[in-house]
Amino acid sequence: MRSPLRGRGRGEGSAMRGGGRGPRGRGPRGRVPGGRGPRSGPGGMKGGNKVIVTPHRHEGVFIGKGKDEVILTKNLVPGESVYNEKRISVQNEDGTKVEYRVWNPFRSKLAAAIFGGLDDIWIKPGAKVLYLGAASGTSVSHVSDIVGPEGCVYAVEFSPRSGRDLVNMAKKRRNVVPIIEDARHPAKYRMLVSMVDVIFADVAQPDQARIVGLNASFFLKAGGHYMISIKAKCIDATMPAETVFSNEVKKLQADELKPAEQITLEPYERDHACVVGGYRMPKKQKTATAS
Ligand SMILES: C[S@@+](CC[C@H](N)C(=O)[O-])C[C@H]1O[C@@H](n2cnc3c(N)ncnc32)[C@H](O)[C@@H]1O
Repeated sequence: MRSPLRGRGRGEGSAMRGGGRGPRGRGPRGRVPGGRGPRSGPGGMKGGNKVIVTPHRHEGVFIGKGKDEVILTKNLVPGESVYNEKRISVQNEDGTKVEYRVWNPFRSKLAAAIFGGLDDIWIKPGAKVLYLGAASGTSVSHVSDIVGPEGCVYAVEFSPRSGRDLVNMAKKRRNVVPIIEDARHPAKYRMLVSMVDVIFADVAQPDQARIVGLNASFFLKAGGHYMISIKAKCIDATMPAETVFSNEVKKLQADELKPAEQITLEPYERDHACVVGGYRMPKKQKTATAS
């Protein structure tokens, strides 16, 4: 049976081997509205190469085109790298400078999903995001850039060691709330988290779908969205990855987490998929037809 999901890559309903779609994903190629965008000054990527920066179709994400094409986020804390990632400073026509940070799809499932061509990441400027499985906060820092000063990232991580780096990163980023807790027990951090627009989950646990459902019941707005990175081997190493993914999708559906899109994260992550969907989505209104 074909999956009702819009799928790309090796998920059910697709025979394609995915991945490697480039920083624009499936977005429009070529020039974006607003022209060629600013060029980086000296100190840009690769020893001063000129880099042209243009907005990605996902608001808050940018494309840097120099020798290679990369994706970027606008640095919320100019002058600071979080994990030694490259920074690109560009000068606008009015002389003001903007700094971007390079986002590596080999180090971030979310970046890999953007490269893979997700239709919508739902994480955008001003959004409130609950991030489960924050690790030391490398990807969280890019989410913090995207949501900007009006948004917020609640970042949950249960390892005290990774949690230390996460807490240190959050000291410089006022829109990140680090929470060193087990995502299986959202009641323990309910006083710290408000209702959110998006849950992003990358906890790499066999019961991840259940963890997302539980956190959604506490914190996700009706009509909000979730993204979940699924590592097949963490759930069942004996089954083909495609079977694991479709079983996880069924679990999500049972929890009112209606999956809408599924992509593979290859070639950046082997046997991983990213599923995106909506929570308690309002029923589609029938439009009255004029007689
Ligand atoms: C694959 S790593 C996350 C990588 C991270 N998302 C990134 O892109 O940098 C999974 C993380 O989830 C954390 N984790 C696993 N189970 C958890 C749980 N029940 N509650 C909170 N964190 C958990 C692990 O300690 C680990 O740091």
